[in-house]
Amino acid sequence: MAQRIAVIHGPNLNMLGRREPEIYGATTLAEIDAALRARAAAAGLELASFQSNHEGALVDYLQTECWEADGVIINPGALTHYGLALRDGLAMLRAPIVEVHISNVYKREPFRHHSVVAPVATGQIAGLGWRGYLLALEWLVAALGERGGATPRGGATS
Ligand code: DQA
Repeated sequence: MAQRIAVIHGPNLNMLGRREPEIYGATTLAEIDAALRARAAAAGLELASFQSNHEGALVDYLQTECWEADGVIINPGALTHYGLALRDGLAMLRAPIVEVHISNVYKREPFRHHSVVAPVATGQIAGLGWRGYLLALEWLVAALGERGGATPRGGATS
């Protein structure tokens, strides 16, 4: 069975392309998902993506669709900074988790400098625009390939 990557987009990311393009760029969520699907297919991985503006819906998705996932890429949007239910939902998973931010949150308002998700993520990419998602996938492709799918959430850094 093919290994499976789950991509999760939090609140307001459905508006990419129209939302503050000077910060988030002109690339739409559909374009990002298409680029991820193409890269995953080339690597022989299945990839599913999900966006919601509601924390509970994101937690439901984690519990149902991500339990068996081999890797998770998540941009939690503003929930990054206060979404404790989302954080706890991620903490339950065994798969490696890459937290992605399009913008460099550390250069922005102070409330964006703290992530409640970071302590339960394997790693984080911030400030590299929409390509941060592709870089996250590239890391998962390499890590899953090296370890035959047994990449632990907390451990793999090679
Ligand atoms: C974001 C950064 C968050 O602070 C913000 O609330 C978002 C997007 C990013 O991708 O840069 O919605 O996660």
